[in-house]
Amino acid sequence: MKDVVLAPKLVERIDDVVLQQRKREWLREHGRVPGRRLLFVGPPGSGKTMSAEALAGELHLPLYVIRLEGLITRFMGDTAAKLRLVFDESAKRRGVYLFDEFDAVGGHRTAPNDVAEMRRVLNSFLQFMEEDSATDSLIVCATNHPELLDRALLRRYDQVLEFEAPSREQIREIVTNHLRPMKAARVVWTKVVEAAQHLSQSEIVRATDDAVKSAILAERKSISTDDLVKRLTERQDMRVSFTERRIT
Ligand SMILES: Nc1ncnc2c1ncn2[C@@H]1O[C@H](COP(=O)(O)OP(=O)(O)O)[C@@H](O)[C@H]1O
Ligand SMILES: [Mg+2]
Repeated sequence: MKDVVLAPKLVERIDDVVLQQRKREWLREHGRVPGRRLLFVGPPGSGKTMSAEALAGELHLPLYVIRLEGLITRFMGDTAAKLRLVFDESAKRRGVYLFDEFDAVGGHRTAPNDVAEMRRVLNSFLQFMEEDSATDSLIVCATNHPELLDRALLRRYDQVLEFEAPSREQIREIVTNHLRPMKAARVVWTKVVEAAQHLSQSEIVRATDDAVKSAILAERKSISTDDLVKRLTERQDMRVSFTERRIT
């Protein structure tokens, strides 16, 4: 978890999940059930997948990633049965089960002829979320589009965690964390933070990485404000050309 840069209130809630899981026997002795059904919501590149991985790491549990989109297209008409296998596995083998890019279950985006299939998948999920787990496996669903999720499904999560765009402090922290082995004594942070506005955590990591690589190739030991601003601006441009292409 120490590599994940998140808002303090989010860290607190993830820590709480970890604690409930670590002390799950104690909770059960007192007639309480540890929280284990989590929904991660937030823009792309804000650390949802990374946090699920970190959660598994903190708990020393294996991480299983289920990509529903792939499951649905591969086993068209048979997805619910395949999901049942995953659910049964989660009851037998304790782990973190990450349903990544979970928006598919909302159904709105799928072609009309898939609607019946999506209904079955959703119903199967609703049922699964009601079931108790003897193993206390964690179920983490991650989505960029919470508005696509069914309301009945939303109610079944123990916690909904919202990931957000990085704050100014978080931008600086992410850049700093990725600068090694470069020195950054002379960096003007206000300029760097400005250049990183509206970029995701993921884009900031990549831009920083690019800047560090250039400096390494130039056989330098320190990084400048311009190095970072240039790479961050590049990422801004990539984003613009991408959205423009999407619109046309
Ligand atoms: N909150 C964060 N703190 C640090 N690095 C991050 C964060 N969010 C994203 N990253 C970086 O971006 C990469 C992709 O993030 P990811 O977790 O896949 O985003 P999401 O699942 O929300 O789309 C991560 O591997 C990490 O390098
Ligand atoms: Mg992801």
